[in-house]
Amino acid sequence: MALKPITLQKLFAILSLSVIFTLVPSISSLDFNYPAVFNFGDSNSDTGGVVAGVAFPLGPPNGETYFLKPSGRFCNGRLIIDFLMNALDLPFLNPYLDSVGAPSFQKGCNFATGGSTILPASAAAVSPFSFGIQVAQFARFKARVLELITKDRKHEKFLPLEAYFEQGLYVFDIGQNDVDGAFYSKSEDQVLAFLPTILSEFETGIKRLYSEGARNFWIHNTGPLGCLPRIIATFGKNESKLDQLGCVDSHNRAARLFNTQLHDLCSKFLDHCPDANVTYVDIFSIKWNLISNFSTYGFKKPLASCCGYGGPPLNFDNRIACGVTKVLNGTTVTADPCNNTAEYINWDGNHYTEAANQFVTKQILTGNYSDTFLAIKKPLFTKFKSLSIYPNVIR
Ligand SMILES: *[C@@H]1O[C@H](CO)[C@@H](O)[C@H](O)[C@H]1NC(C)=O
Ligand SMILES: *[C@@H]1O[C@H](CO)[C@@H](O)[C@H](O)[C@H]1NC(C)=O
Ligand SMILES: *[C@@H]1O[C@H](CO)[C@@H](O)[C@H](O)[C@H]1NC(C)=O
Ligand SMILES: *[C@@H]1O[C@H](CO)[C@@H](O)[C@H](O)[C@H]1NC(C)=O
Ligand SMILES: *[C@@H]1O[C@H](CO)[C@@H](O)[C@H](O)[C@H]1NC(C)=O
Ligand SMILES: *[C@@H]1O[C@H](CO)[C@@H](O)[C@H](O)[C@H]1NC(C)=O
Repeated sequence: MALKPITLQKLFAILSLSVIFTLVPSISSLDFNYPAVFNFGDSNSDTGGVVAGVAFPLGPPNGETYFLKPSGRFCNGRLIIDFLMNALDLPFLNPYLDSVGAPSFQKGCNFATGGSTILPASAAAVSPFSFGIQVAQFARFKARVLELITKDRKHEKFLPLEAYFEQGLYVFDIGQNDVDGAFYSKSEDQVLAFLPTILSEFETGIKRLYSEGARNFWIHNTGPLGCLPRIIATFGKNESKLDQLGCVDSHNRAARLFNTQLHDLCSKFLDHCPDANVTYVDIFSIKWNLISNFSTYGFKKPLASCCGYGGPPLNFDNRIACGVTKVLNGTTVTADPCNNTAEYINWDGNHYTEAANQFVTKQILTGNYSDTFLAIKKPLFTKFKSLSIYPNVIR
């Protein structure tokens, strides 16, 4: 379901000439260029939050490819958010919860934590830092920053300028754990019926951020959940559950419907928050294309976990997490990493490899998978509430 945004040419055809003059500047200012990033999410963009926040044991071989040691990321190397920061010429984001080592938050702050959900966390959740809490942490962060920088300019070296809160990019990648978790206690129909509840909580959070001064929203949709080795191993035992790629159909149907509703939410957000710029990014289609056409893109294993136990086809065993050694059935076994991580799309059964994350980011940056909604405030445009345009100047 790659998006088909209105092209510039079509736009010109639709709108009258007098409109073009007001429109052109707004397209050229869509440059991917922001002074700071505030990120919200789960393990897909956690750069050390859950490790700092609940001392989650995330040992080797995580980090082996890039950081050369565990870095608080569920990955052998960098995440999509790391590659996006590179593209912005900004340093990697420090986790809000990490207090050790005088982390700098001058160019932004990461509130994402592994295991987080949009809906409030249950007592059994890995992370208590659900979306509402991450948003509340942001509000507290902003209040503290404004208090400190007015007191003493020396803090500016470590903290964002006041203007960055309006100029910065607010990035979101959350919801996967809500959908994933729902399938453990609900039928597919019940999961589908539950999606609006999840999205309504997401909307509450981004509205609060808008009221706190956030203006530029960059929202990732959720990936093909049914293609994760853990989901296939748990829900795909009967072949009738699998699609032509070997992914679990029910989970991907739920992910797709979640995304349709998220896209809808994004397109309507300007009705409530007229000064916002909202970009919806179709991560699902990028990952689906990657898994479908893996060999074209230089990968050899579309569905197997690189770091796991059990061998082909999935190399995944729910009882042994990546890097862990355990006695199973009287034998000591270890979930070791594969030798060539770049041949695998999946790292540990639940997360993507650095190679896959790099591929996804390159695709994001083409602009071909995003849909941007801007408020048009000129009187001429009163009949258009918002316009979806192709952000073709993203570099
Ligand atoms: C939103 O985008 C428009 C057009 O690109 C730009 O002129 C405006 O400054 C942006 N708004 C904010 C708050 O950054
Ligand atoms: C697999 O699913 C099909 C269709 O629902 C069902 O007829 C069959 O009995 C199932 N097989 C097993 C081994 O459960
Ligand atoms: C796989 O690649 C082919 C050829 O480029 C393309 O037509 C197709 O859409 C791709 N599959 C997906 C799921 O994107
Ligand atoms: C344990 O080992 C026995 C003997 O090799 C085997 O039959 C059995 O399937 C194994 N059980 C598990 C849970 O792996
Ligand atoms: C990695 O390569 C080594 C040396 O060739 C081999 O012994 C080992 O089994 C390989 N590991 C995996 C997971 O393939
Ligand atoms: C974006 O999509 C168009 C149409 O499918 C394609 O021609 C173009 O090469 C793509 N751009 C990039 C940078 O991949």
